Amino acid sequence: MASRIPVSIQNSLWFLSSPLHSINSEGLHNLKNRIHFRPNFFSSSSSSSRRALYCTCTSSNLPTGGPYVITTPLYYVNAPPHMGSAYTTIAADAIARFQRLLRKKVIFITGTDEHGEKIATAAAARGSSPNEHCDVISQAYKALWEDLDIAYDKFIRTTNPRHEAIVKEFYLKVLASGDIYRADYEGLYCVNCEEYKDEKELLDNNCCPMHLKPCVARKEDNYFFALSKYQKKLEEILVQNPDFVQPSFRLNEVQGWIKSGLRDFSISRASVDWGIRVPNEDKQTIYVWFDALLGYISALMEEKGQATLQTAVSSGWPASLHLIGKDILRFHAVYWPAMLMSAGLSLPKRVFGHGFLTKDGMKMGKSLGNTLEPNDLVKRFGSDGVRYFFLREVEFGGDGDYSEDRFINIVNAHLANTIGNLLNRTLGLLKKNCQSTLVVDSDIAAEGNAFKDTVEKLVEKARVQYENLSLSLACEAVLEIGNAGNLYIDEHAPWSLFKQGGASSEAAAKDLVIILEVMRIIAVALSPITPSLCLRIYTQLGYSEDQFDAATWDDTKWGGLKGGQIMAQPKPVFARIEIQMEGEDEVELKKKASTKKKERVPQAQSQTLAEA
Ligand code: MSP
Repeated sequence: MASRIPVSIQNSLWFLSSPLHSINSEGLHNLKNRIHFRPNFFSSSSSSSRRALYCTCTSSNLPTGGPYVITTPLYYVNAPPHMGSAYTTIAADAIARFQRLLRKKVIFITGTDEHGEKIATAAAARGSSPNEHCDVISQAYKALWEDLDIAYDKFIRTTNPRHEAIVKEFYLKVLASGDIYRADYEGLYCVNCEEYKDEKELLDNNCCPMHLKPCVARKEDNYFFALSKYQKKLEEILVQNPDFVQPSFRLNEVQGWIKSGLRDFSISRASVDWGIRVPNEDKQTIYVWFDALLGYISALMEEKGQATLQTAVSSGWPASLHLIGKDILRFHAVYWPAMLMSAGLSLPKRVFGHGFLTKDGMKMGKSLGNTLEPNDLVKRFGSDGVRYFFLREVEFGGDGDYSEDRFINIVNAHLANTIGNLLNRTLGLLKKNCQSTLVVDSDIAAEGNAFKDTVEKLVEKARVQYENLSLSLACEAVLEIGNAGNLYIDEHAPWSLFKQGGASSEAAAKDLVIILEVMRIIAVALSPITPSLCLRIYTQLGYSEDQFDAATWDDTKWGGLKGGQIMAQPKPVFARIEIQMEGEDEVELKKKASTKKKERVPQAQSQTLAEA
């Protein structure tokens, strides 16, 4: 049974000597339910000090303007990244790219969480020092992000000395608010969660339900954060700001935790050496979560200049969106807001807890050892396929299972056929009949054509879904544009019209402009999800990479392509994935591919033949 035994205040001499500290001697548990919010101020060296009260998130004082700051969790470096960790980052990248298309200044933060017991143990197991180990694994994260086209702005490592300075300053602020006290703690600890557990939430043999490994009995003399003091305030915040936690069913979960009573939690470890030292204290290091959460703020600092909370906060805090997995919701939606309130800082605007990628129904994870290798997936299928599959296939917020068959079917059907093949066959026809040159502006080509309205409606649908973080539905809306394009070309059969000549031929040339305009719109609208593929589409349409980079959501409006624009030579933008079975040689594989083409995509492929 977990028990916390307040230690007499005399045990912590620094308490008495600290003028900052306001804790009284009446028993530290009186902190509980004592709602005493002390506004904090950022002092600045100049006389015009910058004042920052914590934001209680009522609609009137929600921060407005400023950059769009989106964060992924800072990943533990106990092992290299797996597909579960890549999933959060891919989703965050898609959201960041969408916000950039809306012309927002975006600060996309990711990084690695490098302190704590399990990191030290992992380093020792590899025969490395913790520092060397962290360098290697954080580099593996960076390399994967590059391969997955992740365009982050800041990569924070919690071993960065500038981050350490921020954590210590933050700790002292919380201390000054009277929210830190010292006590003994005895309980069951899950090293993988880095968390003391309630006995009632454990499985047989005291196993952690997440990691299926037994928790260990621990007794420690720790510093505690007075979370219980913030119970009422947190309840109010969630009532006043129901969008703070999303999806909405996770809000109920958070409200349930708070209602069942918040217990103070220990924010230092006497037994862990690999961590940031508690200020004015030799033997204790700061609890990994009290350290890592601050990475969201310290990441905002420039690389040079003073490492202070004030400089970091003034560079973009509060975050617009913390994107996390559902397993770390409690830390982000309960602990973190309370810590921020204690330090007098604004709360993030939103916390979104997505579901798990599972394998055989179990959460995929480093601790369970049932991971899917993202490097391997990217090598075999490319970044666009990986990004598209997970964002399209898993309803964002819920869980999703990976299967290779499903992966190949979805990616081939959507990216290779609906999008890639439509572009390729249209450019082929344009080359053959119009010297790869557009005959009119796309606006003129679509005059009085209801098809343009259909596309515009689907683009708007995609925008709304992106705004709502419904990434799968956003993909679906863009794919619908591709489907509409395929239907249009099949119904109009420009290859036949060209053969008729005269007015029919003119109509066919206009139809090609219409389809290529559709491709241009798809390239912009799908660029948050599959940036490399969309760049390839854009360049096939005769644009430069700089023009692609400069595109905004306004470019999804009909009318971008102009008469006289010369398209590139048709070249497949997305190769179908063909899996070679054991013992199958190249010739068989080719045969199989051509049979499959006939079987699976009769419409698109047979028309390609007719077009020839
Ligand atoms: N270090 C902490 C986060 C600190 S943030 C200040 C941590 N790290 S983690 O590496 O264990 O997990 C990072 C993220 O990866 C979490 O959001 C977690 O939910 C996510 N995933 C880990 N496995 C996952 C799946 N199998 N599926 C989807 N996401 C999962 O927690």
